[in-house]
Amino acid sequence: MDFATPQLFHVTLVILTSLLLAAPGGADKAWASRPLLTGQRSLVVSKAVGTLKSISPGGAGAQLDGPGSALQATSTSSGDSPRGPSKCPGECTKYGTCNEELGRCDCPLGRTGTDCSQLAPEAELLSLCARHGHTASTCGIELDLTSCLNACNYRGRCIAGFCHCSPGFFGADCALSLAPEAAGGSGSGFTAAAAVEILAGQNYTLRASGPRIYVYELPPEINIHSNLDRLDRPLMYMIWQRLLSGGLRVADPAQADFFFVPVRARLSYDSTRVAQAVSYIQSTWPYWNATGGGERHLFIHTGDWGRDELSEDVQLLTRNASWLTHWGLARNHDFAGWLQSHRPGRDIVLPMMLQASLLASYRLTKSSPLHPRGPRRTRSRTLFFAGRVCGSRVPPTTNGTFPNCPDVLAKEDSYSAATRQRAFFHHHNRTNWKVVTSTRTQVIDMLSSKFCLAPSGSGMGKRSVVSVLMGCVPVTLTDGLMQPFEPELRWDRFAIDVRERDIPIMHQILEALRADQVAEFQSNLRCAAQHLFWSSLYGSVFGEDGRYDAFETLVQVLRMRAVYPSLAPEEYGYVDPAFAAFMNCQEPPLPGDVASARAGAAAAAGASGRANARAEASGASAAAAAALDVGKPALQQVLAGSDRPAPRPRGLPQDGRQPLCSHSELSLLAGESVSSSSGADASDRRSLVAGDASGGGVEGVFSSCGRCMKRRGRLLNPGGTICCNTRDLASCPRLWD
Ligand SMILES: *[C@@H]1O[C@H](CO)[C@@H](O)[C@H](O)[C@H]1NC(C)=O
Ligand SMILES: *[C@@H]1O[C@H](CO)[C@@H](O)[C@H](O)[C@H]1NC(C)=O
Ligand SMILES: *[C@@H]1O[C@H](CO)[C@@H](O)[C@H](O)[C@H]1NC(C)=O
Ligand SMILES: *[C@@H]1O[C@H](CO)[C@@H](O)[C@H](O)[C@H]1NC(C)=O
Ligand SMILES: *[C@@H]1O[C@H](CO)[C@@H](O)[C@H](O)[C@H]1NC(C)=O
Repeated sequence: MDFATPQLFHVTLVILTSLLLAAPGGADKAWASRPLLTGQRSLVVSKAVGTLKSISPGGAGAQLDGPGSALQATSTSSGDSPRGPSKCPGECTKYGTCNEELGRCDCPLGRTGTDCSQLAPEAELLSLCARHGHTASTCGIELDLTSCLNACNYRGRCIAGFCHCSPGFFGADCALSLAPEAAGGSGSGFTAAAAVEILAGQNYTLRASGPRIYVYELPPEINIHSNLDRLDRPLMYMIWQRLLSGGLRVADPAQADFFFVPVRARLSYDSTRVAQAVSYIQSTWPYWNATGGGERHLFIHTGDWGRDELSEDVQLLTRNASWLTHWGLARNHDFAGWLQSHRPGRDIVLPMMLQASLLASYRLTKSSPLHPRGPRRTRSRTLFFAGRVCGSRVPPTTNGTFPNCPDVLAKEDSYSAATRQRAFFHHHNRTNWKVVTSTRTQVIDMLSSKFCLAPSGSGMGKRSVVSVLMGCVPVTLTDGLMQPFEPELRWDRFAIDVRERDIPIMHQILEALRADQVAEFQSNLRCAAQHLFWSSLYGSVFGEDGRYDAFETLVQVLRMRAVYPSLAPEEYGYVDPAFAAFMNCQEPPLPGDVASARAGAAAAAGASGRANARAEASGASAAAAAALDVGKPALQQVLAGSDRPAPRPRGLPQDGRQPLCSHSELSLLAGESVSSSSGADASDRRSLVAGDASGGGVEGVFSSCGRCMKRRGRLLNPGGTICCNTRDLASCPRLWD
């Protein structure tokens, strides 16, 4: 079990990629030879399309078997579609979607031309589809709506992952339309932007506390034509879906705090696509230039080395933008040869997504130890690690020589920056420690150890997140590497960071901790786990209600950036009581309490660890340092000038509809106990859900995932699993205002 699969997958991808790169006419060559999008209304998908297949417009009756059948059967009932003549040329809406704002005709994979009237010949279509990860069973085929982004908001058909929207609706998920007064008007280009509506007629509302995020509508070649159900690490798509259901997506770019660029970046060769997206954005809308070259623009890279996987020119091109990645290396690591990637305050480190298979392999859907009714084991072992040690995967030697990994690939020692090799060398035989390359009892081992080693791997590792969810205090090892949501999230409250030079004495560091200190770390894991798991996307696994999940944490970090643009991220907790409370998994203080809460938050933020070190360095007490921070004139102005309300939890639905379904069988048990008014269970559950120090109780928050889609694909439920009980994303339960 464990971590082999994704790495193998990565290796496979790399091999495939190099094959494709080596093969003339391969996928990347096709991408590279494609003209840039500037000024074009529609793209030529494949230059090699020679002959055009003429198709009789047979309407809905013209169902053919095999690839392309849906491409030919194109009748779309327009029911209650917005009226008005389409701004796109020809019969665009017959086969494609007209972006009415730009007058751009978007075509499904395999169709080209300014109105999508040209269809690739069947042989051509199959190889085109293969290059985009589609097989004959999905190529050009109408699929279940849930294979498309946000299920096309039930306003269109899903053709191999492309939303063929009903006429008048547009956007990658058909969320957009023109407001009636503009629909027949003479709006041209983005001057009509303010007239674009989101989920018209469905009472879509923005969350009051923001932030407001504008989502660019890029040509589908850039982000939709790949088989969305087979993408590895589809976090970008899941966040994209959730921006709408979370009430963050704004239609008018002039109101936006941030601009989300929905481009897939997973491996280094995706740089080409990022450059394409930037080029398109820059020439189509004024906002890239107007923000000084991409400031406040958000990109996501899910690769092991984050931003550092981009080509140098694309790093330069996007250097003013914010990159959301899993790789938090904030300075060069000379030994490993890693370059600084993460820029604190500009970029954000996101937690790995733990896919369903991984959740299952840790039995997290059945038995999270963080669940009030989860398994409790005595954590009698000091430290546990099982996983690859040598880069080449051969077993490390145990005869007392270092390097303990044979020089097969000539780079073993830089794998994991040699942290795994050295930790193994110094500690594999230590009494009451288990440091091995594999084990069959990984779950039990993590449940019965106090500390779990969380080193990096080739790049980012998952163990820092997994061990938190397993209630095991993570021990991080890589110098200069920031963990998910660090520095905004105080990792020093629930994890131990051992510097590389201290690896040989790691046992002394851990054994010097008093039992009550370890207990405090362990109890802090419950809140930390909420920030590190994408509960609103996946559903709850340890009884959490999603209010503090990774998505909401990202939203709060962005809210802070919008309200306090020049504030250093480690200071957020000092100046914003609502943020401090949020990071402690507590509801924001009531307005009357803000002054005292602010002082309290400041004191709490300065109480220990790194902030304390900072306070001592400036020769002041923690409280005094906090007071100084709050007293900065610029901050005072920001505070006074901020019209942004602090986030407030929205009343949970009273009608029995549940905000967040739970994968955990234990949640159901706990829910039953609560409804039969078992006081102990209820308070257990409340303290878990709302955070130990919170007075706020949450009643009846759990429901089964039984009604949620069981997806074999990876996009999961439209809008996130939190929305699985509604088709109308405008009425997806809101966790905050
Ligand atoms: C939208 O809100 C209005 C006024 O509150 C209400 O009459 C209407 O039914 C709502 N529509 C939907 C789709 O919820
Ligand atoms: C933005 O700047 C680039 C480079 O200076 C220029 O080519 C482009 O036309 C500008 N975009 C807009 C919308 O003005
Ligand atoms: C980023 O911002 C700097 C300073 O504001 C500016 O000089 C530079 O041209 C910008 N970079 C890009 C790629 O636009
Ligand atoms: C330990 O084993 C390695 C590999 O088998 C070998 O190269 C090395 O000489 C051994 N060291 C000792 C001290 O036996
Ligand atoms: C582990 O340590 C014990 C003594 O504590 C020693 O007898 C044994 O040989 C060591 N095993 C290995 C594989 O180094």
